[in-house]
Amino acid sequence: MKVKASPENIKLAGKIIKEGGLVAFPTETVYGLGANALNPIAVAKIFEVKNRPSFDPLIVHISRIEWLEKLTSQIDERAFKLIEKFWPGPLTLVLFKSQIVPDIVTAGLKTVAIRMPAHPVALELIENAQTPISAPSANPFGYISPTTADHVEKMLGDKIDLILDAGKCPIGVESTVLSLIDEEPKILRPGGLPVEEIEKIIGKVKIQTKSEKILSPGQLQRHYSPKTPVKIFKSIDEIKNPENSGILLFKKINLNIKAKRVEILSENGDLLEASANLFSALHRLDDSGVDVIYAQEVPETGLGLAIMDRLRKASAQE
Ligand code: TXA
Ligand code: MG
Repeated sequence: MKVKASPENIKLAGKIIKEGGLVAFPTETVYGLGANALNPIAVAKIFEVKNRPSFDPLIVHISRIEWLEKLTSQIDERAFKLIEKFWPGPLTLVLFKSQIVPDIVTAGLKTVAIRMPAHPVALELIENAQTPISAPSANPFGYISPTTADHVEKMLGDKIDLILDAGKCPIGVESTVLSLIDEEPKILRPGGLPVEEIEKIIGKVKIQTKSEKILSPGQLQRHYSPKTPVKIFKSIDEIKNPENSGILLFKKINLNIKAKRVEILSENGDLLEASANLFSALHRLDDSGVDVIYAQEVPETGLGLAIMDRLRKASAQE
């Protein structure tokens, strides 16, 4: 059931989480599918509903710093500096976990991913549930992430206890996942917090979005994918059969061809606006019956790195 995120409904949602149920809720990045992170049976339902492989660990969402200490066994200066600057916000930190974090949350890893979301509904929900909430994006595994409650309803509506609707997510791409378990900090998934911002606080970080050993399934080659094939293009002459195609433009350009459907992420080429619109535009194109989605390249600076990461994964072959 989809309901407005009113104070009463957030209270009800908190109760559902406390009692082991599943609630989809808004964050500043995408909608999450939440369960009590300390209840392994509740967490198992997330994997079932999403059809998510059990080797893919979840992010634990907290509303207060006290929980960080309970959930981890070791925190260093870098983490504190980043937290002070960026939490609440779209930065997920991978740290060594404590005993209380169930193995199902971390897929058996010794580490746990934690973030404090910058959305009043998410924070209020966690406060009401009185427990950290583990939540992946509220979509079937591998499919486009949801940035509205309607996306969640369309994809998972009949499988979960409640959807809290607070409109569109302001950032629109998932959080940046940063591992601090080695001396060298590593980005495991580019996201809503630009790498450049992180480097201003802790110096150079490595960007490791591909590795032989997959540490973060955001690293899987094909992910965030519509059912329709996606092709990335630089120039318009790469577009074949426009009459049956959808075109995803980064900014407004002069199109001298007539496509079946065109979506513009940001008229003026603003990366923040583009990331906020990315998944919604992909959902619409995927629902529009086109044979192929042609997606225009975006510059890979700031949020552009996360946008191109999502487009590449959406366009990867199985
Ligand atoms: O913005 C977000 O991060 C959203 C909202 C709902 O908070 N959540 C989200 O969750 O994107 P999910 O499950 O779709 O992505 C979590 C990413 C995955 O790539 C996962 O592999 C990685 O975080 N991850 C989680 N725990 C990890 C760990 N212990 N070590 C390495 N990567 C981890
Ligand atoms: Mg996801």
